[in-house]
Amino acid sequence: MDLLQVNDLKTYFFTEAGVVKAVDGITFNVEKGCTVGLVGESGSGKSVTAQSVLRIVPRPGKIIGGKIFFNGEDILSKKEDEMRSYRGKKISLIFQDPTSSLNPVFTIGSQLTEIVSQHKGVKKSDAAEEVIKALSLVRLPDPEEALNRYPHQFSGGMKQRICIARALLLNPELLFADEPTTNLDVTIQAQIINLLMELQKNIGLTLVMITHDMGIVTQMCKCVVVLYAGNVMEIGSIEQIFQMPHPYTEALLKAVPRLDQTRKLVSIPGNIPNLINPPSGCRFHPRCQYAIDRCKDEIPPLIDVGDGHMISCHRWRELNGG
Ligand SMILES: Nc1ncnc2c1ncn2[C@@H]1O[C@H](COP(=O)(O)OP(=O)(O)OP(=O)(O)O)[C@@H](O)[C@H]1O
Ligand code: SF4
Ligand SMILES: [Mg+2]
Repeated sequence: MDLLQVNDLKTYFFTEAGVVKAVDGITFNVEKGCTVGLVGESGSGKSVTAQSVLRIVPRPGKIIGGKIFFNGEDILSKKEDEMRSYRGKKISLIFQDPTSSLNPVFTIGSQLTEIVSQHKGVKKSDAAEEVIKALSLVRLPDPEEALNRYPHQFSGGMKQRICIARALLLNPELLFADEPTTNLDVTIQAQIINLLMELQKNIGLTLVMITHDMGIVTQMCKCVVVLYAGNVMEIGSIEQIFQMPHPYTEALLKAVPRLDQTRKLVSIPGNIPNLINPPSGCRFHPRCQYAIDRCKDEIPPLIDVGDGHMISCHRWRELNGG
């Protein structure tokens, strides 16, 4: 069953320079209990998609079209106070930078117990118990002792564990992890990835893993949604996207960085387009090695090319022997 359905979502930023079409007609589903990878270069709309689902798009951004269903319920038609009971409780989010997402002036204990007592209306001591449980779940050493410490007393990896514990405090069903390992070194990165995979399995969490890194996707995800310039280019299983990738995914896969290089995927030739005035037709055409005139003129629809493999490309069939 699909826990999350996003249909033709459009989220634009109304800036002085013009309307930034950050998310421009994105459609994908997330099956309950799965880990779905949301991938694409910088600026492709990954974070704005997550913000849209939680309805926390910052100004001057606005969701201007489409539908989002969570457990069959229409998220975009909910009133703001109803929406508050979704954030953290049903859908949660962890960010790239654990340092800036924890408040430096309060202890871990006071920040986390506050969340529990506020939402569950329980006594401080009971809330502390729940926090200790969550910190143990993410295998933070010495969770009781950690309650009295401040964020700066922890390493980056430990801070990210604390952020994961915080995101899971209210037992959400769906967790968006927005590049949670980008700022961590490679060994710590692997530990956080393993932790997320373990949590996903053990507590049946549904996970949307946002990343630039196809290595992480291969390791963690069953299904992948590939975004480019606010559009979905491809949706498929790991096998499908490796065996017969969309031309953009193919370029992303070729750009898998080596461990000794920077972890950002930026080595596809050409620049990421301006989303105020995106390229006509297929948005990838100015950078696509297979582009023909038709690609410039006609927007390729996202179609099922077999077994749920969705592709938006005029030439995919021909390039794949069909
Ligand atoms: N607050 C904002 N104001 C104006 N434009 C914004 C704002 N936030 C995002 N955008 C624009 O929306 C587009 C998509 O941004 P988004 O942050 O979703 O990209 P991303 O795929 O998460 O990239 P990254 O990998 O760098 O995090 C970008 O062109 C970005 O400039
Ligand atoms: S539609 Fe054309 S430009 Fe776009 S990915 Fe396919 S071949 Fe490349
Ligand atoms: Mg982002």
